[in-house]
Amino acid sequence: MYDGKVALVTGASRGLGRAFALDLAQRGARLVLLARSAGTLRQVAEEIRERTGGAAPQVIVADLATPDGPKQAVRELKALGVPLDLLVNNAAIGTQGSFLARDLEPQLRAVAVNAGGMLALTHPIAADMVARGSGGIIVVTSGAAFSPMGYLASYGATKAFQLYFTEALAEELRGTGIQVMGAHVSNMDTTFGEGPTAAVDPKADQPSDVAARVLDDFARGRAASYPGSFMNRVLTWPSRVLPRVTVARVATAYARKRGLDKVVEVGAS
Ligand SMILES: NC(=O)c1ccc[n+]([C@@H]2O[C@H](COP(=O)([O-])OP(=O)(O)OC[C@H]3O[C@@H](n4cnc5c(N)ncnc54)[C@H](OP(=O)(O)O)[C@@H]3O)[C@@H](O)[C@H]2O)c1
Repeated sequence: MYDGKVALVTGASRGLGRAFALDLAQRGARLVLLARSAGTLRQVAEEIRERTGGAAPQVIVADLATPDGPKQAVRELKALGVPLDLLVNNAAIGTQGSFLARDLEPQLRAVAVNAGGMLALTHPIAADMVARGSGGIIVVTSGAAFSPMGYLASYGATKAFQLYFTEALAEELRGTGIQVMGAHVSNMDTTFGEGPTAAVDPKADQPSDVAARVLDDFARGRAASYPGSFMNRVLTWPSRVLPRVTVARVATAYARKRGLDKVVEVGAS
């Protein structure tokens, strides 16, 4: 499924994006890696070159939060002259903590990357795939997409945006030869989140396990992937049957239990 295919992974400089890149390379894909940090991206590209013995992946340094970032990325993709077979929309910014206690600016940046940047990249790439009659798109969302949750209010809303967008796009593109899948990941052992002080969940999933499961699910033609524990999948069910107010209250109590209400800016007292 992936052997010889060209895949763009956004947010490939660390965390789950890096894990996707390493796994796709092992499965024989040719990679284009995108993020803002040029040095770290090149390190990942070099790591892949060493592990596979092939050519180093292409690197695109772009900020998906800016209006020009996705446009520049698409220009660079076109200049490479190789059509994309797979787009993995993984880059995102997490903003945990009280909506009012956290600064507004990182929350606006999260909306810009997770919603605007993802749309701006997907639009031209999906159009090209449809014109060729083949391709695949994976959007990494979150368990937080399924329930309104206090202390993840703005981030959770961006993930709900991604969830609805992905499910709707999959239907729009049905019959075009393009496969669209949402990957609803749960807590992972990564450095996710700009500036928060919340501790990593000790039961967090390893990004390499998550990437492998998502890629296996996509290869099986699934419309959705739930790569975490079965309980994480079960936690997405109440919001489908219970009143939304109840879901928001329970989810927010859970967030408080996890200490997300205590998250402050790094450096703030
Ligand atoms: N970690 C979790 O517990 C968790 C839970 C549920 C869902 N998720 C989802 O899983 C995905 C990956 O998360 P992660 O934990 O691997 O996060 P991470 O370790 O913070 O990595 C985020 C990646 O996105 C890139 N990125 C951030 N802002 C960007 C921008 N403006 N333009 C371009 N690239 C940008 C970062 O690279 P640069 O900084 O170099 O730009 C980095 O490569 C995200 O979609 C997240 O919402 C994570």
